[in-house]
Amino acid sequence: MKKLLFLLCAVWTASATDAAAQRQLIDIHTDDVSLILRAAPGEEVQLLHFGGRIEDPAPLMAYESYRHPGHNTEDVAYPTFGGRNYHEAALRATHVDGDLNTELKYLSHETQRLADENVTRTTIHTTDAVQAFDVDLVYTAYARENVITTHAEIRNREKGTVILHSFYSSALPLRAEKYLLTHLHGAWTHEAQVEHTLLTHGSKSISSIRGVRTTHAENPSFMLTLGSDRFDEVSGEVVAGTLAWSGNFRLNFELDECQVLNILAGINPEGSEYRLHRGETFTTPEMIYTHSFEGAGGASRNLHDWGRNYGIWNGHTPTPTLLNSWEGAAFRFNARILTDMIDDAAAMGLEMFVLDDGWFGNKYPRNNDKAGLGDWEVNREKLPEGIDYIASYAHDKGLKFGIWIEPEMVNPKSELAEKHPDWIVRTPKREAPLTRNQLLLDLSNPEVQDFVFGVFDRTMQLSEHIDYIKWDANRCANSIGSSYQADDEQAHFWIEYTQGLYKVMERIRAKYPDVLIQACASGGGRVEYGALKYFDEVWTSDNTEALTRARIQYGTSLFYPALVMASHVSVTPNLQTGNVTPLKFRFDIACAGRMGMELQPKHMTEEERAEARRAIEAYKEYRDIVMQGDLYRIGTPYDEDGCYAIAYVAKDKRRAVVFAYSLRYQSRTVPVFRIPGLDPATQYTIREMNIDKPRYWFEGRSFNGELLERAGINPNFSRIYDSAVFLLEAGDGR
Ligand code: GLA
Repeated sequence: MKKLLFLLCAVWTASATDAAAQRQLIDIHTDDVSLILRAAPGEEVQLLHFGGRIEDPAPLMAYESYRHPGHNTEDVAYPTFGGRNYHEAALRATHVDGDLNTELKYLSHETQRLADENVTRTTIHTTDAVQAFDVDLVYTAYARENVITTHAEIRNREKGTVILHSFYSSALPLRAEKYLLTHLHGAWTHEAQVEHTLLTHGSKSISSIRGVRTTHAENPSFMLTLGSDRFDEVSGEVVAGTLAWSGNFRLNFELDECQVLNILAGINPEGSEYRLHRGETFTTPEMIYTHSFEGAGGASRNLHDWGRNYGIWNGHTPTPTLLNSWEGAAFRFNARILTDMIDDAAAMGLEMFVLDDGWFGNKYPRNNDKAGLGDWEVNREKLPEGIDYIASYAHDKGLKFGIWIEPEMVNPKSELAEKHPDWIVRTPKREAPLTRNQLLLDLSNPEVQDFVFGVFDRTMQLSEHIDYIKWDANRCANSIGSSYQADDEQAHFWIEYTQGLYKVMERIRAKYPDVLIQACASGGGRVEYGALKYFDEVWTSDNTEALTRARIQYGTSLFYPALVMASHVSVTPNLQTGNVTPLKFRFDIACAGRMGMELQPKHMTEEERAEARRAIEAYKEYRDIVMQGDLYRIGTPYDEDGCYAIAYVAKDKRRAVVFAYSLRYQSRTVPVFRIPGLDPATQYTIREMNIDKPRYWFEGRSFNGELLERAGINPNFSRIYDSAVFLLEAGDGR
């Protein structure tokens, strides 16, 4: 017996030594970021490093964690439920024979440079120790943007159906002394509020279980400041991540007894059991990571660059300035009201008119939000002239034309609901709860996908002059039930709804690559990179009030570039918050994103129209910097002194635009704004935009970037809502 034991031990030691001998490093990197893995046949893939670039990782081959195998696993690339893992697992499955464990062993890997030379993809093949069950881990590195994205492909080769309980996109272990988590939370008209939390041992998670309109409360994005409890814009080590998925998500941060932070990110496993049939592969959504030693600002700029270059449909084409009819006309309009609005928009220099809700439905006219949703024919009473008349009118005036649809939803009071009750998300025995008097269509059903595509397609046929679609989604999924899904696969709804949406968007983009599409979901309910793969921009929030918008736009800017951030000037007192702010302040906030207006111009005074004209004209002069430049946040709109600014610096550093705000009464304090990101040696001439006459001593003068960064500028703000826009251009002034 002793002999046998000795023999077994010898065999085990020999194979362990064998594996050690075959160990290799997998070096995934961008210009400044490295992700280093270590693998050997028959062993789990270990994740040794994610952070600053390591030019020569070879010495890490001998790395020892000194982790006791009886206490915890090594830091692995994709921890599974089973084996020695004591953390929440990235993957938990019940295999065909009832086995609850999965232990993924390395098989091989390959790295390929994609046609775009900036992008490298590494695929690591793993398989379970005993089951015919494989997982490929796919890492895509974007060199210049310093972004590494990752997803998993889970394949069932067993003799029946495997049940997937959780199937995250990625796992990332990090090691630091402290972890400051920064993430967004909020609600309708209160999106993207920024919260900082110093993580303690145990788990903290950010999630959504709303199916649709998933990002009002939480956003699938985070930043982690490593080794510090201070959120810093300019310095310090930051890891940021954001998930590209328009459905339920969960990001979990588990700080363990070894002081390792284990991050899981992906589809929310809650209620989402997935039956993976024999021969099928499940591909998880993409998790997007970046790392920076230049604080939160550096991390944001990396994500913005990646978004514009890879993550956003048409990430280099800004949406034109526009007038949207919603807050100005709501459901009460006719052709005359709309053409007058178009005239007024043209006179103020706006470039597009968008007809919002209320243009459709005949048996059940859409005169309020109680009826007509789903019946996408032009309302003959309101618009007997048809949409083409309005769109052509806009084009004749030199404006583009856009129109609103909400194709995933239906009012019970509609012909669609009467005709297709089976398309509605609900369970046979329960009443479907209404939100905003409407129900959700079951986009997991291919027939519904055809219908939704058809809504878009037919809307586009209403006129050859449709340039822009505002795609809305005004409720969440709840009390779910699908007449399309099998009884034992009802939980598939969550995933297949989102996949259904993407299938529709693929068809739309194949046919309409150039039409601009806005993702609106009661405002900022669909602000994430899964949607942005198909959409050009988002409706950042239904809150159009400038003071509270400052915070919403600040939070959004942590992860998403200004290019996608639609921001409209509306009336005062504001319809959402009741606040009254000066028109200039409203413009100066809106112009820091994709600027538009959303009011009835008829109600503006002549002076206000002139002011609007001036702001719009100025915006056209610098908006390319807002859309494509590098963002530097100067302070935050949460700061007690109420001084906040944003600088966008053109990539060649020849121009920059600075938006500065006073968000409270300053008394005798004159704020100073130090402007980072400029070239220290270049002379910049400062010109204040959007004003009648010069206001500050530095107007028209030139200063080099070093002085502007170190000494700054001091606009003499005193009152709450004082604001200014400065254009900085290379070249000598006075
Ligand atoms: C949602 C949108 C608004 C507007 C209305 C129309 O609330 O967020 O911008 O389009 O629907 O009903």
